[in-house]
Amino acid sequence: MSEDDIIGYVDPLVSSPGQKPAVKVSCTRDTFTSQVFRLGAGFKHPDGPPVSHRRVEAIPQQTHQGKPQFGRIGSFARVQSWGDTLLERAESVSISFWCLPTLPERAKHDQFLFSSLDDGGGTGFECFLDKAGQLRLRVGGSNAVQEINLSMRLLRNRWYHLLLRIWSTSGIVTLKAEAKARDIGELAEIFEESHSLGQPVRIISHMPLTIGGNSHACRPSTKPIGSGSFNGKVDGFKVETRSGAGHISTLLDLDFSLDISTDKVRDLSGNEHHGELINGPSRAVTGHNWDASQSAWTHATYGYGAIHFHDDDLDDAMWETTFLLELPSALLSGCYGIIVHDGVSTDFIPFFVRPDPNAKHIPPVALIIPTFTYAAYANEHLHDESREVHFPGDPEKKDKYFQTLMRRPDLGVSLYDSHNDGSGTVFSSLKRPVLNMRPDYSMWLFDGPREFSADLWFVDFLDRELGAEGYDVITDHDISEYGAPMLKKYRVLLSCSHPEYPTYGMLDSYAAFLGNGGHFMYLGGNGYYWVTSHDPGRSHRIEVRRAEAGCRTFGLPPGNWHHSLSGGLGGLWRSRGRPPNQLFGVGSCAMGVGKGAGYGINDEARSSEQLSFMFRGLESEVIIGDFGLVQGAASGDEIDRMDYTLGTPKNAIMIATTKLAGGHSDEYMLFNEETLYPMVKLHGTTSDKIRSDIVYFETPSKGAVFSAGSINWVGALAWKGFDNNVARMTANVLHEFVRRSRCR
Ligand SMILES: [Fe+2]
Repeated sequence: MSEDDIIGYVDPLVSSPGQKPAVKVSCTRDTFTSQVFRLGAGFKHPDGPPVSHRRVEAIPQQTHQGKPQFGRIGSFARVQSWGDTLLERAESVSISFWCLPTLPERAKHDQFLFSSLDDGGGTGFECFLDKAGQLRLRVGGSNAVQEINLSMRLLRNRWYHLLLRIWSTSGIVTLKAEAKARDIGELAEIFEESHSLGQPVRIISHMPLTIGGNSHACRPSTKPIGSGSFNGKVDGFKVETRSGAGHISTLLDLDFSLDISTDKVRDLSGNEHHGELINGPSRAVTGHNWDASQSAWTHATYGYGAIHFHDDDLDDAMWETTFLLELPSALLSGCYGIIVHDGVSTDFIPFFVRPDPNAKHIPPVALIIPTFTYAAYANEHLHDESREVHFPGDPEKKDKYFQTLMRRPDLGVSLYDSHNDGSGTVFSSLKRPVLNMRPDYSMWLFDGPREFSADLWFVDFLDRELGAEGYDVITDHDISEYGAPMLKKYRVLLSCSHPEYPTYGMLDSYAAFLGNGGHFMYLGGNGYYWVTSHDPGRSHRIEVRRAEAGCRTFGLPPGNWHHSLSGGLGGLWRSRGRPPNQLFGVGSCAMGVGKGAGYGINDEARSSEQLSFMFRGLESEVIIGDFGLVQGAASGDEIDRMDYTLGTPKNAIMIATTKLAGGHSDEYMLFNEETLYPMVKLHGTTSDKIRSDIVYFETPSKGAVFSAGSINWVGALAWKGFDNNVARMTANVLHEFVRRSRCR
């Protein structure tokens, strides 16, 4: 893509037929066209199925005005109205708060601790760290902004209590700062300094007050906008005024330990000057007085009054709507995409349509699109070597989407990335373009499709096996929002390749589905792994907290492991007592970036009358899936195995395992939660635990589960246009499950 690219997103990502989701496009040329397709396979590969998108004739091609759009990254708190008339009469104003800078000197932009200065600089005041880490104060004046450099330096990861006071008649500014010791080798310190602005100042502000950022730049913009956010924590925020008679009034007293699961901040001054959070900073993080006596904010009476702001937080990109997409009421559920083309550049913007909730005909089968996985990986920057967390990658494999991501920091980062200050992300949003959710996306690490672009092979497969009307498409968002009653409509559910991020309620919904006699095909790997929170009221956002264990690119510090949205302990579902083995027979154990492995069929399984349906047409096969479009085999990337000690049902049968086909190479390594002392035998050739198992079991309610245990199952499924033994076995199980559901 060139500088003048075209990109966009659909909001909301998942809609019902008949609804009108908003399409938001950034385009530097005067006009562009849009055309809607129902998506099938989208990745070109000589051994794969052809690209199979189909034009949706009911939605006409349209031409639109082009306009560049850039969102603003960086989180902050904003109090719209906070008592400017009281300020007008005050002799002095004092602003006090705790703060902990996490990147005082390398942010490449000014970092605002607070700001109420108006655009002309005539009223208000603001305090910020400049690019060199200098603490500076600006006060509005009728002639010009008065500015002073404060002499104290704020050090990284040190808590400070700052008290700034501005005197109107004398123009004196004082700062008193208490610095806490960071460790046993450091003493607490007190800093005091006084400056004169040289003339009286009017302590008045007509602007909203922002904390942790400067909201003056409008959003969105037709030009790139820099972040003004502070990297670090702020704990509590108080503004007081003193009258000539010495009377002290509290204008604002924000307590961030309240309403942690919301985007609201509460004012305890009695003036009802409540505020809101922009761009999803992290809450439920340890504050200045956290002492490790309590690690759950839900139980703590103190220690959780901080908000961690980041200059690359992004919640809602807030692009202007370019046009509304009128979805026909008869539109089939499915994966859709809008091709936008400006004559030179093209983007393929995906969206999803859930089944019509009032549909009379409901097919027995549903494919579950893992939209929470797409959110978690959205715009991952693990290839970005300028970041603290990154993997070395082959530059040749970094495609056009990578190039655009590197050029556009306003598209945000993922739940796999560290923030610019090195701290871990906890939120990801879908109200922004997600460039690794594109039908032709190839992941730089594996040189092949992953997540959405790989899952479209399942769509192609089901279109071939059942016809487009023979199954529904639902999403993680739908299961989170509509739960077990929605799943109850179906008799057979299929996962996609990487259903990694369920909520507690979603696991309950799957359990209810299986308890009710449902049939489930888990056709992926590393599934149902991380504790995830989702608030349907802010449906575009998910929360994940990387805790003490798990295959993760960073771990959050102690005390930060409980989710802000739900209050629940984050980390692995396995650590919460809900390992995926319990519901699906297998659980994730290892990953590797090298060539994958095929599965050797277990002779006992093959000779079982009960399982004969699975081997129809495969009677002479010994190895399943020693081929594939990604990593060259059906078992690869992140892989799962059965383990009775982790909850695999006792009646589960191992149909095939990679260990019977030679196993994985030493490029595959065990997940850390799988190891205990002594930490040896961690690689593919030495560990018995590194394997993919195909597992089958039946439930007491006459349902059944078939699990494949690998992200790359789908890459083998699509091999040679679905003409292979992986596709055959998958189709055998699918048709048997459908047949059984008809017999009920
Ligand atoms: Fe994963």
